[in-house]
Amino acid sequence: PAPTTHKWNVEYIMWAPDCKQRVMVGINGMFPGPNITAKAGDEIVVEVTNHLHTEGVVIHWHGIRQIGTPWADGTASISQCPINPGETFTYRFKADKPGTFFYHGHFGMQRAAGLYGSLIVKPAEKEPFVDKHPYEDEDGEPMSMLLSDWWHESVYAQAAGLDGKGKHWQWVGEPQTLLINGRGQFVCSLGRSDGACDRNKDYKRPCDGEGKDDRKQTTEEKARCEEIRRSECGPFCEDSQCSPVVFRVHPGKTYRLRIASTTSLSALNVQVQGHTMTLVEADGNFVEPLEEQEGIDIYSGESYSVLLNRKPDEETAQSHAYWITVRTIGRKHRTPPALGILRYTDDDGAWPAGPPPETPFNLPDEEEEKQVKKEVSHSKDFAKKIKAWKPPEGYSAPPELEAANPDRVITLLNTQNRLEDGDIKWAINHVSLSLPATPYLGAYFYGIAGSVFDDSAEPPATYDSSRYDIEKPSDAQAPGAQPPPLSISDRVFRIAGGAVVDVVLQNANMLQEGVSEPHPWHLHGHEFWVLGYGEGRYDAATAQLNMEDPPLRNTVVLFPGGWAKIRFVADNPGVWAFHCHIEPHLHMGMGVIFAEGTEKLRGLNSKAKEAFTCGKAVKAALDLTPAA
Ligand code: C2O
Ligand code: CU
Repeated sequence: PAPTTHKWNVEYIMWAPDCKQRVMVGINGMFPGPNITAKAGDEIVVEVTNHLHTEGVVIHWHGIRQIGTPWADGTASISQCPINPGETFTYRFKADKPGTFFYHGHFGMQRAAGLYGSLIVKPAEKEPFVDKHPYEDEDGEPMSMLLSDWWHESVYAQAAGLDGKGKHWQWVGEPQTLLINGRGQFVCSLGRSDGACDRNKDYKRPCDGEGKDDRKQTTEEKARCEEIRRSECGPFCEDSQCSPVVFRVHPGKTYRLRIASTTSLSALNVQVQGHTMTLVEADGNFVEPLEEQEGIDIYSGESYSVLLNRKPDEETAQSHAYWITVRTIGRKHRTPPALGILRYTDDDGAWPAGPPPETPFNLPDEEEEKQVKKEVSHSKDFAKKIKAWKPPEGYSAPPELEAANPDRVITLLNTQNRLEDGDIKWAINHVSLSLPATPYLGAYFYGIAGSVFDDSAEPPATYDSSRYDIEKPSDAQAPGAQPPPLSISDRVFRIAGGAVVDVVLQNANMLQEGVSEPHPWHLHGHEFWVLGYGEGRYDAATAQLNMEDPPLRNTVVLFPGGWAKIRFVADNPGVWAFHCHIEPHLHMGMGVIFAEGTEKLRGLNSKAKEAFTCGKAVKAALDLTPAA
């Protein structure tokens, strides 16, 4: 059957995702953008028209491998040119496998501006896993939560702050709000259900309170805020843009809840009151079920599915509704939780009996530090427990670990560095990524001389471990053992088609003494096996790896002070980003580019041409510069 064509207008919209109105980037007048629900094997066609008057746009399909369609990956400067205001670009690609995915802007910091939505690919036929672990059919819209974090400051202000030099450099800070399917509660975050907000007691973040944007508010804005507070904070008036998401379920049935995180910064923990969870999917692959989980930890770029199990003593209880709580973990607790409701009755008025469970908030420093440590180690344990699911004999299995010795090992040291002019960057092996004006894929397509096409120099594929102390900030390394100076570059790793590639991600201390941060690394164009995680410096001789049943994923968390190792097979010619999924970190250069099987990219496919209408690519197309 002919695929349905989705027609999307990307535009600025006024929206109040957390009850406070702001300008956002929306699609077809909505935030988040429309859900896409497809079946494995479907072709997905999305005609994107850019109605943003002052900026380009692209849309990336996170988790879709784009097999044979690298030009549809939706990454500005990498797979295509940004779509100009007023222009339309058509993405056409195959939903190659079932899974819980999402889509988002991949130009500047547009993801953080609200340009995202859910993309769920249902299995084409009943899967063996479901035979073994049955759940309710997901007819119609699957039950799914796309999680995000939200700032009242615009992404333009955020980007300008991150690009600032010296004392003008500004970090984005903790988000004001967390959102479930685009809805969160900035005020009344304790979620009173009686329609009244006790302003002095219940407002965790009053308009005249701690948020720095609030201090800057004019009298007019304050009045407007007060009005929103009065009109929208009640039982989160169900039809407002910030009322909690409600999921309706029936007793005695098992539901699959799909959860994906497109946060700009935050790592999250998700819990459903009165229920435990069985983890069954990670990033589009079934995993060995992890039963009896009180909740799951999810980092930006990851997705999970859980089966919800009502606790036995709840079956007989009088509760018809339960709080779903999404809270930040692993960073200072300055953001109230996002709330949702799981409702076992048709009665719209049914609210959870009590207030939502307490979550850590604004703790005193020492306690905060302990809590953060505890949460990070919990996340680590959770990540390490995830193993691939092996189907019973006779069923088709996901690709087994390619167990040959790798053709290539790339080690990537993650550091934070201060440039001489006071700008702060993230760097990989002392190189900070800056994207070129000519999309890499276009350069290979046209074989453009003087571009990445004929520049064979690669960024460094490892770092000198004898000269770099990962337990010290980059500007406090021992004298005489100084690492090479930081450079800013758009060079790529050239990966031979078909190569088995191992990547070791090595964490280090950031600029602040004694602090290392987690970085969720996401790979485009592929899934990879997560071979292992460890503490301190990676040592091939002693590293414990899982060569038995490593999970196949597209995002791996590099935990503070440690390493992570992955393996993938370079069987998908294209130019693929591999980067930290924290939006400000990517903005500050935290990523690398894999140009894979590039000899296959020349003249690729005439559909691809449309993606390259900028930089030297358009000049080559117009014959303004002789192509090599
Ligand atoms: Cu979801 Cu390159 O990212
Ligand atoms: Cu990061």
